Amino acid sequence: MEAELPLVLDGGSRIPLAAQLVSLLREAILNGTLRPEHTLPATRRLAAELGVSRGVVVRAYEQLSGEGYLESRGSAGTRVAVRSDGRGAVPESVRPAPGADGDGIIDLTPGRPSGAPFRDRAWRAAWRKAVSEPVDVELPPAFGLPALRTAVADHLAASRGLTVSADDVIITAGTSDALQLSVAALRRQTKRPPRVLMEDPGYPTARRVLTAAGSAVLTLPVGQDGLEAAQLAALGSCPDAILVTPSHQYPLGGRMPVGERLALLEWAEPNHVVILEDDYDSEFRHRRMPLPALASLPSGAEVVLVGTFSKSLSPWLRCGYLVVRGTVGRRLRDARLDLGTPVPGVLQSALANYIAGGGLARHIARARRQYAHRRALLLDRLGGRADVDLAALDGGLHAVIRLQPDIPAGRLAEEALGLGVRVVTLAGYFAERPPENGLVIGYGAPSDLQLARALDILTGLIGRMAEAPPQ
Ligand SMILES: Cc1ncc(COP(=O)(O)O)c(C=O)c1O
Repeated sequence: MEAELPLVLDGGSRIPLAAQLVSLLREAILNGTLRPEHTLPATRRLAAELGVSRGVVVRAYEQLSGEGYLESRGSAGTRVAVRSDGRGAVPESVRPAPGADGDGIIDLTPGRPSGAPFRDRAWRAAWRKAVSEPVDVELPPAFGLPALRTAVADHLAASRGLTVSADDVIITAGTSDALQLSVAALRRQTKRPPRVLMEDPGYPTARRVLTAAGSAVLTLPVGQDGLEAAQLAALGSCPDAILVTPSHQYPLGGRMPVGERLALLEWAEPNHVVILEDDYDSEFRHRRMPLPALASLPSGAEVVLVGTFSKSLSPWLRCGYLVVRGTVGRRLRDARLDLGTPVPGVLQSALANYIAGGGLARHIARARRQYAHRRALLLDRLGGRADVDLAALDGGLHAVIRLQPDIPAGRLAEEALGLGVRVVTLAGYFAERPPENGLVIGYGAPSDLQLARALDILTGLIGRMAEAPPQ
């Protein structure tokens, strides 16, 4: 049922038109005028009726979708997603929002981006085109479809300022595949299990995958900005490769200063250490520009840029890319030729269409705005509290909450799950160092409304546990 909306905007007001429209629609939902059975008018028509540009309506719908009040269903339009009490009593026909699983648990596990691209018209069009292309009877090319390799090179130039040729790109099934391929390539050189040095704390999946692929994982304790060159100089023996997250230390959230980057390159070159640069979410910077990738700095060191669509689009795709050069590039290509590509041709074709048509850039811009709202929400709910330390908010789609020693993170996570909020502890990211007491909060997938509710539950629990500390 399409909603009848008696909306009037004030062109003379100092409040922006989109903000006025957001307030009016939110109020209409909260007072029950707009209900879950209602579909909103198409943006173009509402804009014409209100005498404003279409962008005003698009921004207002986007904000309310981010807050969880509306749900965009692609060509089926935009509908109301909550009842007047704002408590999310959505009809059965409405799927749970991407942040909530089937049981209504609000899932703040990191690594889950906004689910929006799958409802995007451009995304569907890219797939329609891909499946209507003549079917090839060959295997997809080992390094990836040329159209996707070109699209990735163009994307890196626009989003990262990286000058990369399509020939330097290998399409992967995401970072885990890239790491397995890297181990296979390193083995060709070492003829024994390669030694790979990782940051501690670091990405637990990478530790697991590198080990399963047959490498010996070593760790180096790091602070929030990543490792320091002095630590490398003090190493007894050099590893074969080092996996780093210089753009956004995972999970602590800092960025490696330029001086440390140069020192890392200077150390790696003479010691023949391959640098695996995990550039997993540099599209999402909220405060400061990303620093140039290690892979773009002038150096003779062997640097492999490991990129993924898991954050910029979705981990559901299992797709990413490597930017490779030099000797390690040759070894990676040889390993890929032997193993073949695990990435389906039709997926590569659809992604290439989507990126070349501007869909990815538009999706990233939209997701950035959503993440900015949620980051603001985190700051609003937790930023001023003396009992928690909120960190890792400069970029990406997760934040770190450090807790006082009398609030054990494991116990907090357990109690939060009982109240419908799933969070993970910071301890899970630590390998050999004594873990810090805290949580890692993923804010990509939940709506603003769900995030606000989850933060209320967490802060309520923190307050209660502080009053009656666990024995
Ligand atoms: C540090 C880091 N790197 C990479 C990824 C992406 O991995 P993949 O491309 O295998 O999904 C993630 C996902 O959570 C991550 O946290």
